[in-house]
Amino acid sequence: MDVAEEDPTNLPTKRRVRLLNRDDRLFHVILAQQFDRELIDHLCRIAEMTRIIADARAGARFLNTLLSHKRAMLYFIQPSTRTFLSFSAACQVLGMPHNDVRDSSTSSEVKGETEEDTVRVLSQYFDVIIMRHPSEGFAETMANKLNTMRRCIPLINGGSGKDQHPTQAMLDIYTLYRCFSPSLAERIRLDPERNLFDGKTIAFVGDLKRGRTVRSLAYLLTRYPGVRLLFVAPEELQISEDILAHLSRYDIEHELKFDLPEVIGECDAVYMTRVQDEHDKAGESGSIDLSRFSLTRDIESRLKPDLAIMHPLPRRTELDTYYDSDPRAKYWDQMRNGMWMRAALIAHVFNVDGAILDHYFSHYNY
Ligand code: NCD
Repeated sequence: MDVAEEDPTNLPTKRRVRLLNRDDRLFHVILAQQFDRELIDHLCRIAEMTRIIADARAGARFLNTLLSHKRAMLYFIQPSTRTFLSFSAACQVLGMPHNDVRDSSTSSEVKGETEEDTVRVLSQYFDVIIMRHPSEGFAETMANKLNTMRRCIPLINGGSGKDQHPTQAMLDIYTLYRCFSPSLAERIRLDPERNLFDGKTIAFVGDLKRGRTVRSLAYLLTRYPGVRLLFVAPEELQISEDILAHLSRYDIEHELKFDLPEVIGECDAVYMTRVQDEHDKAGESGSIDLSRFSLTRDIESRLKPDLAIMHPLPRRTELDTYYDSDPRAKYWDQMRNGMWMRAALIAHVFNVDGAILDHYFSHYNY
């Protein structure tokens, strides 16, 4: 069977990654497993440099020229606020005009055009497709199909069903870098031997079974030996076996826990998530008791003074608004970091990240 016709998830991960990369560089951005430590470090530095360059008018003008000759399509047929807007802002930072389709009822799909053909159509008008789609595997399948077309453009996954959300995971890692290394100079220099995550405990809390952000971030964290992961969720919503097996393969210490107040005192970062009840079959998650899985104000005294409180948002009751103005609340920073990280990623895909690096070093001292 032609590789484009095969279900890519049945292939070994190395093979899947090879089909998505070109010359050892990201081409399609679909899976968190495409990112190794060197690439994560590189993209965090590019994100850091981009935000500094963009701060000055001349720098913003320079960034604006980088991709002004390219066009992006934001094909988001599943609801989104942050991912959509931050990708849109990232395109603007790089001067790349973009357009969007957010509702397939306004496209020729109403006339019976398949989603596959829709993506093929988009590939003729644009230079990159950034996609959010409700089905697991669709983005990867389409990336492999685009590979067989005469005009093949990169496809970036902005959330694929319950499966993966690699660009969110990259902004989460970038946020953790900024928390674990508050010195800008150190983050720019970023010694490859220095593992900022060594000895850190990170807890994931909530719906870990159906939360794609947690899955992708867990994949990235295998690049940091010495990190310790706690998965804190009710039995019904615990992280799935495939992720646990992956962590074991990489020798990453991890434990399943069933009570947040009991473990919160050990954590350097806590990653809260909402119940993904849109995936319920018949409202079954409504009856789950979440009281032991919420960051409430009554446990504040147990929190470490430099704990990073994270959430991909949107939130429900699992994260008390009480923490909103606490300096440990990093969920606001996550959003802004997402814009810079997505700009860095797009710059990398189009091979203009080197120009950002050169510009930075010719204008700034460190
Ligand atoms: C997340 C998503 O869409 O997976 N949101 C986001 O991208 N910031 C998390 C969620 O919807 O719970």
